[in-house]
Amino acid sequence: MTNKKMSRTDLLIYFLKGNKKYYLLSFLFAGLMALLDMVNPKVISFTVDSIIGNIDRDIPPFVESLINSFGGVEYLRAHLYLIALAVILVAIAAGTCRYLFKLFNTIGAEKLVQRMRDILYDHIIHLPFSWHNQNHTGDIIQRCTSDVDVIKNFLSEQFTNLFRVIILIIFSMYFMIGINPVLTFISAIFFPIIILYSMFFHNKIADSFEQVDSMEGKLSAIAQENLTGVRVVRAFGREKYEKQRFENTNEEYIGMWDRLMKLLSMFWASGDLISNLQIMLVVGFGAVFTVNGKMTTGDFIAFVSYNAMLTWPVRMLGRVISEMSKSGVSIDRIRYIINSEIEADKETTVTPPIDRDIKFENVSFSYGDGSPEILDNVSFEIKAGTTVGILGGTGSGKSTLMYLLDRLYNIAPQNGRITIGNVDIADMPISYIRSNIGMVLQEPFLFSRSLAENIAITRDKTDINEIREASRIAMLDETINKFSKGYDTYVGERGVTLSGGQKQRAAIAQMLINKPKVMVFDDSLSAVDAETDSKIRHALNDKTSDSTVILIAHRITTLMNADKIIVMDKGKVIEEGTHEQLLSENGMYAKIYKLQSPDEVIS
Ligand SMILES: Nc1ncnc2c1ncn2[C@@H]1O[C@H](COP(=O)(O)OP(=O)(O)O)[C@@H](O)[C@H]1O
Ligand SMILES: [Mg+2]
Repeated sequence: MTNKKMSRTDLLIYFLKGNKKYYLLSFLFAGLMALLDMVNPKVISFTVDSIIGNIDRDIPPFVESLINSFGGVEYLRAHLYLIALAVILVAIAAGTCRYLFKLFNTIGAEKLVQRMRDILYDHIIHLPFSWHNQNHTGDIIQRCTSDVDVIKNFLSEQFTNLFRVIILIIFSMYFMIGINPVLTFISAIFFPIIILYSMFFHNKIADSFEQVDSMEGKLSAIAQENLTGVRVVRAFGREKYEKQRFENTNEEYIGMWDRLMKLLSMFWASGDLISNLQIMLVVGFGAVFTVNGKMTTGDFIAFVSYNAMLTWPVRMLGRVISEMSKSGVSIDRIRYIINSEIEADKETTVTPPIDRDIKFENVSFSYGDGSPEILDNVSFEIKAGTTVGILGGTGSGKSTLMYLLDRLYNIAPQNGRITIGNVDIADMPISYIRSNIGMVLQEPFLFSRSLAENIAITRDKTDINEIREASRIAMLDETINKFSKGYDTYVGERGVTLSGGQKQRAAIAQMLINKPKVMVFDDSLSAVDAETDSKIRHALNDKTSDSTVILIAHRITTLMNADKIIVMDKGKVIEEGTHEQLLSENGMYAKIYKLQSPDEVIS
């Protein structure tokens, strides 16, 4: 976790940290493997020419002494199986290197993916609320899965393959030139053609793959939406329409695969054609050179072997280059996450007691540049230990006030401040504020865990008595006891579906378990009936009388007993006072009160 801005290379190096040894080992074995691959054609060519045939060849001294230690050319000629044995041994050694190369490469790749995911997850959960608002969950998940895979392939597959192929080409070309430069030229002239051709095709294919991918995404989105919203589909009798929509998309998807497969078949067929043409020319010219005495038979065999060894790697090179050139997009998509600034405290922070007066001082706020001003010079005070109600229409900025108090968003220094005990909350550690101010957010969210785990979500250790106590105040205990599994009842897709009011009460219990000094209820009683609302407020009053309570509500009865009521309209505080004071002022509050009061409805 860091707020350092990283370039593409920085990022790759950062990800590779800690598993470099696997990459070095895989490079080492890739090199050894290429080297060993060079040996057998040489052995065979020597055998054909000097052992079976009678040609005297220039051979390096160390090979000569090796042959002599086996008993010389004569002895080998009589015991050809020794050479076969040598060929097998070399092949086994090369195979072992190939195995070790793959092994270390795979371990390195898996460690790399693990590290990338851990780093990303750690970073993402520390990114500010505003970042999460701006970025779609689906997109973030896509970056953490597909883009991570692209980077893994780039570093562990393409990069190592590039290295391996280049080494192989250098070695083979060295030996091929040693055998016959003209034939080497004939062979090599095809390489740029094959590489460019395969690059061209892979670019085309990659575009097709992308289209197929996005169509697949569309298809699963339709399926997922319909499965999640199955009740709505049934209720409105939209099965036929939705089925048709799915079938159309499915057909389009299959059509795309069809085109992609045709493209692929064409590429493989024409690629084979070019490669075979190259092999044919090499064999043809090689045969002519051999017949004309410009090459020995052994050299001819060796040359053809080296050439064949290069066919696949060269064809792959085009693909590797084309894929690598596309990885930049994925690296940038990951870089966007890693380079987004995480929430950070000031360098020096203070942790004063939180059970003090809370003051909003001339707070103005807007979500991001160019967005409308949501709060306009808001000032009010909440005395420690009192209950303050906030009333106002939807969109008047009530929730925003609480987000600012919880530092989910920060106030720019010139746009006022919020203080607790006269200390600016901007000078406190974010975690300190959040753990001391209990928030029941307007839209409660429960995890797919048991009810007990959900209520004790902020606790590392759970004590069922505390969970019960909090649930009792939130008027949830009785409801939970009616479930056959009680507090172990599972919430979410595979468990019970809670009603809006039950969810709100679970969220209240979740907050109460921490017994915070400051408690915020953001429209948290809107979905419970008036009677339960009143019961919860009374229980709260009894149990937590010394806490500061901020009660945001639509229903006047919820907050009319508050020590002070603040009325918000379009980002401004328009009225402030006790229930009686506000009624006598005969303003907005009095108007809403009359609208909501049953007598008015009757009369
Ligand atoms: N994350 C956000 N990004 C942009 N605008 C937002 C965001 N959250 C809320 N708003 C806007 O801010 C205004 C106030 O919203 P909010 O504080 O939720 O009001 P209230 O809680 O009083 O209903 C609304 O116009 C809303 O559309
Ligand atoms: Mg709200």
